[in-house]
Amino acid sequence: MDEKLPDEAERIARKVARAGIAVARRHVFLCADRENPKCADADRALQAWMHLKDGLRKRGLSEEGGVLRTRVGCLRICEGGPIAVVYPEGIWYRACDPDVLDRIMDEHLVGGRPVEEFVIARRRLPDDEG
Ligand code: FES
Repeated sequence: MDEKLPDEAERIARKVARAGIAVARRHVFLCADRENPKCADADRALQAWMHLKDGLRKRGLSEEGGVLRTRVGCLRICEGGPIAVVYPEGIWYRACDPDVLDRIMDEHLVGGRPVEEFVIARRRLPDDEG
């Protein structure tokens, strides 16, 4: 008989490990709705998302590199996008086209310094544990 297939909990655990959640230091959310983003046109938003994914990978920041990324449908700013937010600092950015994303990756994610000229808000979320 074939080996038993992994159950859902095992499959999820593998995906959690593969995503790098255990070593995550930051999480980037980028507004790139698939059909009708309001903060930038759909092609521009898709280009930004692809650039972020490739850029994180090329810099060794994906998965074991400690930076999670998530494409979202709307971050509720809906103006001047593509909009992104980086946690845990809670730094919100406007105009996240490839050139700006390169700066965010190099200066903020690697260098630890937000790219001030594109920051539109900042709010570190409170840590209830401490
Ligand atoms: S559609 Fe991008 S923030 Fe709302």
